[in-house]
Amino acid sequence: MGLDADALNRASALISQSDIISVLSGAGVSAESGVPTFRGEDGLWKNYAPEELATPGAFRRDSRLVWEWYDWRRGLIRDCHPNPGHYALARLALGPKRVRIVTQNVDGLHEAAARKTAGDGDPTPALPLELHGSIFRVKCTSCTYKVPHREPIPTETAEDLPRCPVCAGLLRPDVVWFGESLDPEVISEAFEVAQASQVCLVVGTSALVHPAASVPMATHQAGGSLIEINPTETPLTPMAEVSLRGTSGKVLPLLLDEMNSRGT
Ligand code: APR
Repeated sequence: MGLDADALNRASALISQSDIISVLSGAGVSAESGVPTFRGEDGLWKNYAPEELATPGAFRRDSRLVWEWYDWRRGLIRDCHPNPGHYALARLALGPKRVRIVTQNVDGLHEAAARKTAGDGDPTPALPLELHGSIFRVKCTSCTYKVPHREPIPTETAEDLPRCPVCAGLLRPDVVWFGESLDPEVISEAFEVAQASQVCLVVGTSALVHPAASVPMATHQAGGSLIEINPTETPLTPMAEVSLRGTSGKVLPLLLDEMNSRGT
């Protein structure tokens, strides 16, 4: 893989010296689990038009089509499991340091890794802050009803689409679509912890979608360090103290091992 040993060394030193660490993750951290990215080679947005599938307008125009596409993605993700990258971040977050995992991903794999790694212990420190919601949750388009939902969605006709048991409104995936705002509490917590962090690990994101991509900048502007883990450069690369050019499923476990070999 030819990972730069010196860079790995500097990255683990930075993490070892830090008390508060934030992580911003993107689709790349789940790529090795089989979840398609958005803008990579076979990325979703290479094959599908986001304006027809991931906007409130698209859902108003054709909710059956949108649900059909989300149901397909849910089916694909349902069979995916966390990879060594997710587990390494869970171990880091369940360790002695204060770590906050902030994710753009809606696939639930960080949470699955947190629960598995914690075993009978408390997974809370490793449960992610989900900036863009969860594909395995539905919410009502009319009232505040919102619940976890993993079963397949019937999409033969618009009449088959799921309805709210409280107000009969149409249910939609509880994800943030283009043109929609993020939950203000969630995004402000993300900026708060990033600002307080000595290090922000930026893992598997193209850093093109805001406000998520601005979260690591809060660490940088507060004098903290960015460590980027991505096979390719991103707009955050110039701000990164260390860039590890490799896949997160391989690099993150190595980073944890390097840290542990330092006894921290
Ligand atoms: N390990 C680490 N990084 C990887 C890997 C891997 N195995 N595979 C790909 N990458 C990198 C790519 O080089 C790219 O920079 O992950 C990044 C994935 O970028 P995107 O597909 O743009 O995904 P993301 O940054 O999460 O997108 C942000 O855009 O479409 C919206 O709401 C959606 O949350 C998403 C947001």
